[in-house]
Amino acid sequence: VDMALSNFLELPASGFNFENSARNAVLENVLGEGKTKTPKPMKTGTTIAGVVYKDGVVLGADTRATSSEVVADKMCAKIHYIAPNIYCCGAGTAADTEKTTDLLSSNLTIFSMNSSRNPRVIMAVSILQDMLFRYHGQIGAFLILGGVDCTGSHLYSVGPYGSVNEVPYLAMGSGDLAAMGILEDGFKPSLELEEAKTLVCSAIHAGIMSDLGSGSNVDLCVITRQGVDYIRPYQESEFKDQRQGRYKYKPGTTPVLREKVEILEVELVQESVQKMDTA
Ligand SMILES: *[C@@H]1O[C@H](CO)[C@@H](O)[C@H](O)[C@H]1NC(C)=O
Ligand SMILES: *[C@@H]1O[C@H](CO)[C@@H](O)[C@H](O)[C@H]1NC(C)=O
Repeated sequence: VDMALSNFLELPASGFNFENSARNAVLENVLGEGKTKTPKPMKTGTTIAGVVYKDGVVLGADTRATSSEVVADKMCAKIHYIAPNIYCCGAGTAADTEKTTDLLSSNLTIFSMNSSRNPRVIMAVSILQDMLFRYHGQIGAFLILGGVDCTGSHLYSVGPYGSVNEVPYLAMGSGDLAAMGILEDGFKPSLELEEAKTLVCSAIHAGIMSDLGSGSNVDLCVITRQGVDYIRPYQESEFKDQRQGRYKYKPGTTPVLREKVEILEVELVQESVQKMDTA
């Protein structure tokens, strides 16, 4: 009884757990190819982008989450809060980008509470790199991290194996070819705020129109020294999902064809409550 109770009371370990991937590999070997199917994870087939402009950084993302051919979420948020001066766009496996950015955010919050200052962008990037490299690409997180600190405005790409690059503009995800074309064409150093917002929005829009994994709205996040402007949605989809019919049916719409009631024989067990000795 003690064992069972302590197992039950023990909280599961936090963070990533790869137990099932070993089990699935064994099952696939035992049962043979084609006999077992491991479930497919939900992926954010995605277009995300970022641009450094005159006074800060503009991040952008679409809002579609897909699970194979199905649009699993039309309004998902892909720009994640990291710190008051740092935000991060995620592409790849939805759960992995979410957990990774959550872990990073709580790590930096503890730092900020201890030191009463906002973290530098390079600190966030280094912690991400440490975290991802440890798992050798098993965590499917493709990230664009942007922020502003005492050393200026920074935009980084972070790959799932822990590779890091500082760049002035960037697109990632399945729609990145379309988005990168727009950025390459329109980017110049020291853009004005409105120019930067329009550029990032058209880059994401190009991804939405030319990539099946990206869709719905455009979200933007503007980070400056003065603060953050998270605009959700910045541009709504022009292809609205209008319901054609009313799906409400009166009770009794479906006729009952047969009815059979079976009495279950239940044995009544006497129950008494004993007080536990907690002394
Ligand atoms: C808090 O700050 C002190 C120094 O001011 C440092 O020694 C300690 O490691 C920090 N703790 C955390 C959790 O960062
Ligand atoms: C934050 O992450 C770094 C790198 O992985 C680690 O060394 C540090 O202990 C973490 N801090 C906290 C408070 O978890």
